[in-house]
Amino acid sequence: MMQDLGTERPAVILGDLTHRFVTPGGEMMDVLQDVSVTVREKEFFTVVGPSGCGKSTLLNIASGLLQPTDGTIRCLKGDRELQKLEIGYITQDSNLFPWFTVIENIMMPLEIRRIPKPERVERAREWIKIVGLEGFENHYPRQLSGGMQKRCSIARTMVYEPEVLLMDEPFGALDAITKQTMQKTVLDLWQRRQTSVIFITHDLTEAIALSDRVAVMTGRPGRIRRTVDIPLARPRDVYNITDQTGFQELRQELWSLLESDIETDLKG
Ligand SMILES: Nc1ncnc2c1ncn2[C@@H]1O[C@H](COP(=O)(O)OP(=O)(O)OP(=O)(O)O)[C@@H](O)[C@H]1O
Ligand SMILES: [Mg+2]
Repeated sequence: MMQDLGTERPAVILGDLTHRFVTPGGEMMDVLQDVSVTVREKEFFTVVGPSGCGKSTLLNIASGLLQPTDGTIRCLKGDRELQKLEIGYITQDSNLFPWFTVIENIMMPLEIRRIPKPERVERAREWIKIVGLEGFENHYPRQLSGGMQKRCSIARTMVYEPEVLLMDEPFGALDAITKQTMQKTVLDLWQRRQTSVIFITHDLTEAIALSDRVAVMTGRPGRIRRTVDIPLARPRDVYNITDQTGFQELRQELWSLLESDIETDLKG
């Protein structure tokens, strides 16, 4: 079912997605069921839901990496279909190339796009600074902490300024202060570049701080239980978002949508 977008143009259209995996035991497992999402141009759209409900699977499908069992995917800019290279995907695991250093990892997508070397170095250095990895340019991923690997993988995607950004719990592994700094960086970039974002998180405060809308998924097989508008004014102050008028009510609303599922799970 398509929602009414008014005058806003769609950027990512996921239509009636269903996905089924074969388990190691050879049985079929329904992971996503009739998931329809239309993300608007320049919209920050977040998905929350219980662990294992199919959120990463949904982004794998949106990115074009995984073919859904059923349903349709379109990524658009205006009337133009986007190519895979124009979609940025920060996966849940950092997925850095282990045999490349930090700076080589970050320059990689620019090399694929045939950006000349001096510009590659300049843009990579700029992002190394933004994510706070100065001094670690020549380290290999195994020589970094988990949070540093995550920041390197964020830089590697942001450096080519994708038209659509898919982010799977990008800040989950970061400490509270780095997390807020990265949230601010992403919001600033998003505001400047006007990209469409699909963001996954377990953190409801983060969901409210960043998003225009938050979709709450049910347990597996994941369906969209409800999509909640986040009408807080922008630009947002990620450091003091919990003091904003309306924040507590939104958090309560999201929590109760999630909780109904957790209770059902516990009851079996
Ligand atoms: N390649 C695969 N083959 C078989 N089953 C898979 C595969 N990938 C994921 N699954 C199953 O699909 C379900 C959903 O996985 P997914 O990673 O999408 O969940 P998630 O919502 O992202 O969870 P989390 O919040 O813990 O990251 C899980 O039960 C998982 O075991
Ligand atoms: Mg996941």
